[in-house]
Amino acid sequence: MFSPVLRRVCLSSRSSLARASSTQCVTLIEGDGIGPEISRAVVKVFEAADAPITWEPVDVSPVKTPDGRVTVPEGVIQSMERNKIGLKGPLETQIGKGSVSLNLTLRRVFSLYANVRPCRSVEGYKTGYDDVDLVTIRENTEGEYSGIEHEVIDGVVQSIKLITHKASMRVAEFAFNYARSAGRKSVTAVHKSNIMRRADGLFLACCAEVASQYPDIEYRDMYLDTACLHLVKRPHVFDVLVMPNLYGDILSDLCAGLVGGLGLTPSGNIGADGVAIFEAVHGTAPDIAGQDKANPTALLLSAVMMLHHLSFTQHADRIQAAILETIREGKFVTRDLGGGASCTEYTNRIIASLK
Ligand code: IPM
Ligand code: MG
Repeated sequence: MFSPVLRRVCLSSRSSLARASSTQCVTLIEGDGIGPEISRAVVKVFEAADAPITWEPVDVSPVKTPDGRVTVPEGVIQSMERNKIGLKGPLETQIGKGSVSLNLTLRRVFSLYANVRPCRSVEGYKTGYDDVDLVTIRENTEGEYSGIEHEVIDGVVQSIKLITHKASMRVAEFAFNYARSAGRKSVTAVHKSNIMRRADGLFLACCAEVASQYPDIEYRDMYLDTACLHLVKRPHVFDVLVMPNLYGDILSDLCAGLVGGLGLTPSGNIGADGVAIFEAVHGTAPDIAGQDKANPTALLLSAVMMLHHLSFTQHADRIQAAILETIREGKFVTRDLGGGASCTEYTNRIIASLK
């Protein structure tokens, strides 16, 4: 069930949507565990910053189709079809036989083919690195995540890594386009074409083909293991990285670790025609759920990415500056960031820091 705050926002959103076309209605998936409280933090900060966003909260309890597949409720699909844009808190993945992650279901249902995760060093949160500023772009629909697995004979299981020309070209084009429009200098394709000669070979060939159309962007490719080594030794040499699905899953966590972890890093799942869902990638933290201790930064920064995606650049910059200023100041940060503030106190400090 949605919190009263969000329900009120949702209801007012319908009427304000009709009035103001410059206001974007966003499908809000609060998520499980700490999801509702960090979603409330985003709604509060956005309201205080007069961000032109109204929210439409939806329920994403899993639904089984007649043929036994997991999907999301019709209400989510209709809401996303109307709004095109979603913001999502963490959803619980039940580990076990037959359960498909709802996180992945959402990516599949809305064909969100590129996963974008910027990682930038945060002033005030000291890690071993001060100069990280890179973006991982992960193919989000196939590869090792194709879900095609079967038992060949007793004791022998096969899992198919699916790589297609279409999806590889699509994500490579996305990466180069992103690099160009974000004023980035280089794209690195990450792969293991020495081992998966055909699958990663195809991915790599697609990246090289697209690279040839972007002479203004420096292009190189790197084996996954080499990329891991260089990322932990000299992360500042990387700019945009593009890679197949599983490598992106792993490398994006590694990169998040360079700057402080999943609590600080945003993520966007982008599809065709502007459809996108921005999400916090961290877990549901059930141990602290409902205790007003959660750190809402990852969801807030994901919501800032969403504002950029919608070209609400001034609002995005203003909210981001307030978040970073609050962390830099360090007086009202949550426990995971080395402070003692509650989620509410941290959120209020961000609001007070809005310039
Ligand atoms: C991520 C997560 C998901 C993934 C999980 C929750 C299914 O780790 O978004 O990186 O594996 O893609
Ligand atoms: Mg992951």
